[in-house]
Formats: sequence, structure tokens, C-alpha cells
Amino acid sequence: MTKADILIVDDEANTLASLSRAFRLAGHEATVCDNAARALELAKSRPFDLILSDVVMPNRDGLALLEDLKNAGVAAPVVMMSGQAHIEMAVKATRLGALDFLEKPLSTDKLLLTVENALKLKRLEVENRDLRSRVGKHEIVWSGDAMRRVMAQIERVAASEARVCIYGETGTGKELVARTLHEKSARRGGPFVTLNCAAVPAELIESELFGHEKGSFTGAAQRHIGKFEQAHRGTLFLDEIGDMPLAMQAKLLRVLEEGEVERVGGDKSIPVDVRVLVATHRNLEDLVKEGKFRQDLFHRVYVFPLVLPPLRQRKEDIPVLLKHFAAQVCSQNGWKPVPFTAEAIESLQRYSWPGNVREMRNVVERLLLLAVSGEVDRSTVELALPEAQSGMPSGGEPGIGPLAPRVAQYEREAILAELQRQQHHITNTAKALGLERSHLYKKCQQLGIEMRAVRGTR
Ligand SMILES: Nc1ncnc2c1ncn2[C@@H]1O[C@H](COP(=O)(O)OP(=O)(O)OP(=O)(O)O)[C@@H](O)[C@H]1O
Ligand SMILES: [Mg+2]
Repeated sequence: MTKADILIVDDEANTLASLSRAFRLAGHEATVCDNAARALELAKSRPFDLILSDVVMPNRDGLALLEDLKNAGVAAPVVMMSGQAHIEMAVKATRLGALDFLEKPLSTDKLLLTVENALKLKRLEVENRDLRSRVGKHEIVWSGDAMRRVMAQIERVAASEARVCIYGETGTGKELVARTLHEKSARRGGPFVTLNCAAVPAELIESELFGHEKGSFTGAAQRHIGKFEQAHRGTLFLDEIGDMPLAMQAKLLRVLEEGEVERVGGDKSIPVDVRVLVATHRNLEDLVKEGKFRQDLFHRVYVFPLVLPPLRQRKEDIPVLLKHFAAQVCSQNGWKPVPFTAEAIESLQRYSWPGNVREMRNVVERLLLLAVSGEVDRSTVELALPEAQSGMPSGGEPGIGPLAPRVAQYEREAILAELQRQQHHITNTAKALGLERSHLYKKCQQLGIEMRAVRGTR
């Protein structure tokens, strides 16, 4: 049974003594208090699992205390008890948010059951909150045919034990897909462990994967459990497998064949039950040809290739992804939902998204911060992502090509930024930029900055 931390409030010393004894005998912790004012202080100072309060007390009574607790935002469930219980009192207590109403004299069984219910309720609330925070976080959002095909493949392989190799440019959602495969598999109750082979120095990768014993090399002050052992009965996601050094590839191959690992400096083999998923942004077949990736390992991990298309090749997904990230950012910050105008969505669909979905998530955050008018429109997009405008070089290298469009782009950015800063006050914007008002108008016309945005205010 779980131990509960209970606050008991009653003006009678006898009741306090007998209740606290009953709770302590049952293994709970009890704090006693003989007046409402002190009870409120205590409840605000630490999170109790349950507050049990008498109704009839001198000065502030139990119902007033209940009201104070709710007003103070105390989350602990409150159970009222009274020797003069009548139905109106019970109704009032329930309306004020009491979990239960007990009649005195109290039976120990009933009391302990109440504690158990309160604990169960708390557990459910925590679970609920956890579930709510996870909903949408690992959800793959899509709409077009390209991702429909990928989703169908995910469904097909998730339930199997097949080794999947996920291909995709940076930010296309490789890790998200790996996690989804794990969550849709029979291993979902087990751990999902990741290792980015490109991020670990070559000399540490063996110990990261297989672990090491204390003292096995300089700096190995403690025994370390490797990723394979951590992922036992679950899934191990090896990201950027193409960057794994050749010597490690041989060791990895052995583990995949034998299902056993040996810690660095250890002398016994430890059986591991792990499904391995790998990802890469490189072409493994090319790496094999260049002698940088072992052919035998390639055949082991390349059982089922899953290709994630870059965002520029699935523009139909852009509107739903924008909506998804906007909703996420707004709810995280407690902001009202911010809509995107059709024009804004269109220009974002024209952009080439070299950083793919990851870049989009960051851009959405910037767009929402800049959307002072309450919606993301074309001018917000121009400000946050000048490359997304039509006619402007998209995703090109800076410093390449004729000078004029680059100068125009710079001018545009500078004017839009200043307009934003001056809240579209034309005179102030012109002054800050060192231009005549009429000159600013002309520039805006030339650069295609919407006059609506310029004239719209003051
Ligand atoms: N289809 C999608 N729906 C919702 N969110 C997505 C989608 N694709 C990617 N994301 C989100 O975009 C971000 C980048 O995705 P992820 O880390 O999976 O990409 P990656 O391909 O592993 O990137 P990298 O190559 O940079 O490691 C994550 O926050 C992920 O949740
Ligand atoms: Mg990744």
C-alpha cells in the first residue's frame, strides 16, 4: 500500500489523537491541527495527499476552510466530517469541491478506504496529465500521398521485429518515426534508447554501446551500463549509423548476430533482447562502395528501408504541420490561437525548407512572436522568413548571383523590421531609416511591400 501524507483538522484533541493513531497504525503519516487558519498555512506550505476536516469548529468552520483552500489553489483532496451532518451541509461541501463527506462517529475501515480513494484519484490525475502532455508530442502529422505511403509502411513493419533503416535529410522526422515504430510494436512497454553515432567520439562509442567495467580504462571511475543493456526488451535507435567507425561496425555486427554484449573490461557475455533501428542521411550503398561501411553490416541493418521525403517534396503537408506547430507553441505559452492567412500559407509553401520539419517548428515560433496583429499574414512571413517571398532567391547561397536582388532583399528586410519596430507608424519609420516619408512610400511600392500594411495604421 502507498503511504499517504494526511492533514487532520479538528478542534477536539481526542479526535485528533485517535484519528492520527489510526492512520499511523495503517502506515500513513498524519499531521494534526486544531484550527482553520493554521490548517490553511500548513496546506499551502506542503502538498498533502489528503486533508480531513471537521465542519463545526469555533472561529472559521470547516466549510469556510474548504473555500479558503480552493481559493488558495491547494490541490489536495478535502474530505469533510461532522457529528451533526445534515443533507444541506453535505451538498454545500460537495459544491465547494469536497471529495467526500463522512459522518461521525467514524469507522476506521471507512477512513482508510477514503484515504485509498484519495490516493487513487491522485494517481489518475498524474497519469492523465502525463497522457495529455504526451498527446501530440510524438504524433506524426501529415496530409499528402507521400506521407500516406510512409505511414502505411510504418504500420506494416512496426509490429514485426524487422530491422528498419530510416533514410532522410536533416529534420525530416527520422527520430520521430523510430519512436513511432517502437510505440506501435510489442516492445512499447520497454525502453526506447537512442545513440547518435555522429555525436560520440570514436574512442568512446564502444563503451557507450556496450558499457564498461570500473577501472577498465583511464577515466572509467564507475561501472557504466551501455545502450544495448539499457534497451533490453525495448528498442535501440542508432542514429547516423553511416558515421560509425569501421572497427565498431565489426563489433556491432557480432552483437547483432549473437544477441550478447560484453562490457569493455568485462569478462562475461550478457544476453540482450533488443530491436535495432537505424537512421542515416547518407546513402549507405554508396558508403559500402567507398569501403566506409561494411557490406555484411549493411545487409544486417538494411532489412527494410524507409525513406522520408524532404518537406519541399510534400508541400501538401505544410498547412497541417504549420497548424500543428502553431497550436503547440500557443498552448505551451498560454497564448490565444493565432491563425495563418491563406497568403501566408502560400508563401510558406513556396519556401524550400532546407532544414525540413525541424526548421519549420523554429520558424513557426518566430512567426507567432512577430504576429503582432493577431494573425500570421504575408508581411509576418516576409519579416520572419524573407526567403519565402516569391521572386526572391530561395535557399540560395548568400553572395552568389547578381547584386541587385540581394540589395533589394536587404532593403526589404530592413524596412519591414523597422515598420514592425515602429508599429507601422510611417513617419517614425521613415525617420528611423533616414528617409523622406514620400521616399519610403516609393521604396515600399518598388519592393512590393504591401501598402495595406503600411497605410493600415495611424
Ligand atoms: N511529420 C511530423 N509531424 C510532426 N512533427 C514532426 C514531423 N516530422 C518531424 N517532426 C518534428 O520535427 C522535429 C525534428 O524531427 P526529428 O528529430 O525526428 O528529425 P530527424 O530527421 O531525426 O532530424 P536530424 O537529422 O536533425 O536528427 C522534432 O521535433 C519532430 O517531433
Ligand atoms: Mg535525428
